[in-house]
Amino acid sequence: NNIKLDMEKAFSFVSRDEVFAWKETMEKNNVALHEKTGKGNDFLGWVNLPTAITEEHLSDVEETAARLRSKKLDIFVVIGIGGSYLGAKAVVDALSDSFAHLKGSDAPHILFAGQNIGEDYLYELRELLKGKEYAMAVISKSGTTTEPALAFRLLRQDIEEKYGVEEARQRIVAITDESKGALRTLANTEGYKTYVIPDDVGGRYSVLTPVGLVPIAVAGFDVRALVQGARDMEKASDVNVPFEENLAAQYAAARNSLYKSGKKIEILVNFTPKLHYFSEWWKQLYGESEGKEGKGIYPASVDFTSDLHSMGQYIQEGERILFETVISIANPDNEVRIPEDKDNLDKLNYLAGKRVDEVNKMAELGTALAHMDGGVPNIRVEVPKIDEYNIGQLIYFFEIACGMSGYALEVNPFDQPGVEAYKKNMFALLEKPGFEEETKKIKSRL
Ligand code: PA5
Repeated sequence: NNIKLDMEKAFSFVSRDEVFAWKETMEKNNVALHEKTGKGNDFLGWVNLPTAITEEHLSDVEETAARLRSKKLDIFVVIGIGGSYLGAKAVVDALSDSFAHLKGSDAPHILFAGQNIGEDYLYELRELLKGKEYAMAVISKSGTTTEPALAFRLLRQDIEEKYGVEEARQRIVAITDESKGALRTLANTEGYKTYVIPDDVGGRYSVLTPVGLVPIAVAGFDVRALVQGARDMEKASDVNVPFEENLAAQYAAARNSLYKSGKKIEILVNFTPKLHYFSEWWKQLYGESEGKEGKGIYPASVDFTSDLHSMGQYIQEGERILFETVISIANPDNEVRIPEDKDNLDKLNYLAGKRVDEVNKMAELGTALAHMDGGVPNIRVEVPKIDEYNIGQLIYFFEIACGMSGYALEVNPFDQPGVEAYKKNMFALLEKPGFEEETKKIKSRL
């Protein structure tokens, strides 16, 4: 296991003993996850997923990616929302050159659709695609979600018009339930290449299913290394691993201790823009898993040092209900040294010869100390570098910690009843067939 967990800067707010007092609970929660005896136990397929992924499955995903890439794609569009979007976006962004879309590369650029209902977004995407070589994956576990279905209806017509129906079918991959849902019916009728999202893996835990693996492989990244990282973390968080060695269990314990002490908001912090969407993935994971029954730590995120010049003020001096968890990357991929300047008009010669990352690391340390002084506990999760293996480790680390943490809150971390409320109103307002009663009721409120 490559992950290091440093909670020293949280221990002046909740003691080490308080955190370690969760030992029995977290070990019990971990057993409940592995033995499928806790709440939501029909959605625990993700717990052993990394070690359950077969060689054949990985080869199949790689073959599909190679077949699509042989079409010399400029763009691969991934249509999906929530758990059918954020995992792929998080991993692809973390691993990609920040300017790949401007530099040009062998790998297609991954773009997303169906993750919003912005008319301009869809218009602009369709305009862009007219002049590009492209293919797409449409991803929906239920196969009935409005946002991706709407985007797919438009983009499917476009791709069929551009390439003809037969070739369009070769350029579309559908990732959905084995038998249920409109997307499954459509995919079977059209004869698309399909992948199944296992019944017992919920959207936000599905990044290591084809939901994430297919787009990540098409983007040119090593899905084997990603899965291997997750496998090793699965082993490092197994039920035989005692709390003292189980870092995910300790993280779950620390955040619950802090929550009980009045720290209601956890901010996930990064010091590299590549992790922006990793935080978005993490927010969905924790927000949807824990935010229910009037309980749950509110998951927030910031990108430092950018946001130190905006949200930094609140974090330092606003309401003292925050704690932060920093994902710290020990080594960047590339080296940039600060040059000497003979005039030194910018007064930066004191940094000459240092790497840019040394400045970033001192910003990280200085921020942690300042925030601690300001009443913000700091947890640090360190990985050696951003690559497939380490991202795989982080994914499983946060997933298993989330399961243990949700059980500590005594909620079902694997359902999301709250996400239905807006849909009911939207369907009623749009006069969807079957919603006649709701339509009448909602219109009387307007
Ligand atoms: O975590 C979840 O369950 C949700 O965020 C879903 O992933 C999201 O609503 C998309 O659902 P579906 O994949 O069924 O289209």
